[in-house]
Amino acid sequence: KGVVTLDPGYKNTGACESAITFLDGEKGVLRYRGYAIEELAEKAHFLEVCYLLIFGELPTEQQLSKFHTDIKAQSHVDEDVKRILDGFPKAAHPMGVLSSLTSALVAFNPSSVNVDSEEDMYKAIVKILGKFPVLTAWTYRKRMGLPLDYGGDSLGYVDNFLKMMFKKPSGEYTTNETVLEALDKLLILHADHEQNCSTSTVRIVGSSHAGLFVSISAGIAALWGPLHGGANQAVIEMLEAIKEDGGDTKKFMAKAKDKDDPFRLMGFGHRVYKNFDPRAKIIKKAADDLLDNLGIDDDVLDIAKALEKEALEDPYFVERKLYPNVDFYSGIIYRALGIPVEMFTPMFALGRLPGWIAQWREMRLNKEPIGRPRQIYIGETHREFLPVEKR
Ligand code: CMC
Repeated sequence: KGVVTLDPGYKNTGACESAITFLDGEKGVLRYRGYAIEELAEKAHFLEVCYLLIFGELPTEQQLSKFHTDIKAQSHVDEDVKRILDGFPKAAHPMGVLSSLTSALVAFNPSSVNVDSEEDMYKAIVKILGKFPVLTAWTYRKRMGLPLDYGGDSLGYVDNFLKMMFKKPSGEYTTNETVLEALDKLLILHADHEQNCSTSTVRIVGSSHAGLFVSISAGIAALWGPLHGGANQAVIEMLEAIKEDGGDTKKFMAKAKDKDDPFRLMGFGHRVYKNFDPRAKIIKKAADDLLDNLGIDDDVLDIAKALEKEALEDPYFVERKLYPNVDFYSGIIYRALGIPVEMFTPMFALGRLPGWIAQWREMRLNKEPIGRPRQIYIGETHREFLPVEKR
């Protein structure tokens, strides 16, 4: 007590106790509420995982059905939100737009702010789960100049999202099981990752009792950065750049190792995983399977594999324990699903939404104190003020 320990980037500082996600970075283990990520990715659906993360147990059929019905009942977004969206330039990055729109939702749902009971929390939770996919799809459609609309009540959560994204102006929409399964899996793999940058942001903003929606809006802003969720967009841009440059992966490896060059191998390295990222393993296989199934030949996947092979044999990467992370192969799947590169990070946000909600809820139920890190002051000691004419 009273002694401030310096830990830039919180590399060794625990900020809370949590019962949501277990992560062993040395062994490459990731579990949500005790369930192995490999098993959930294989057997569960995204909405079940949302429920599991938020409420701690896998839902019964009845619980899942009620949860879905409650979400659907709250998926309507006030028509005036369309006017806010209209104010953004088409070229605006979707993450900035999404963060703003999520924040703006508070104005249309003021009762979502003061949530002192579990019942109030539940109402705010189903609202954001219902409205966020709509905002994400609208952000995309606005960019594309497509009409803004809803999906269909009879569809599953993920299917409905895809329909909102890709429905033609004529109303026509088709998808298939392969596409749905691939997206479902990807969303599950992104659903939570304990106290990462965006989740810590959600918890710290929420710790001032600012409300769920603005806490999530702050989380979206944190996720945007290329060192965090923004890496998925940066990976594909990097792979494209390598391709355009003639495919010389060694040249880019050398740049990544050069300490005078700010370039990093995007999609490589992780604060916690020091042997492998279990999510990356699953995603690599899923990318292979999906491209096979859809009959797509993406030469960027070959570049990614070549880069991974070289990095795994390179002393620079081996010594620093740098392995492909969740973002390395995910973009290849998004591309195959027809999702444009600027929408990759919003897709990550859609997947991470239940994790942010679960962590916010846990923080509020635990009655955690306001987040307020300390510092070690290294500035001037006391100085006398000089009026401007004497400086
Ligand atoms: N390429 C080249 N060198 C790297 C990389 C990389 N991708 N990542 C780390 N290093 C080096 C770094 O320069 C440092 O070297 P040295 O010891 O010589 O100074 C050493 O490895 C340790 O790196 P660090 O930056 O101290 O590690 P960190 O835990 O602070 O950062 C990271 C973790 C993920 C931000 C970092 O590895 C990185 O910038 N990776 C690229 C961006 C990326 O893929 N981000 C997605 C992360 S996973 C999903 C998510 O969080 O959203």
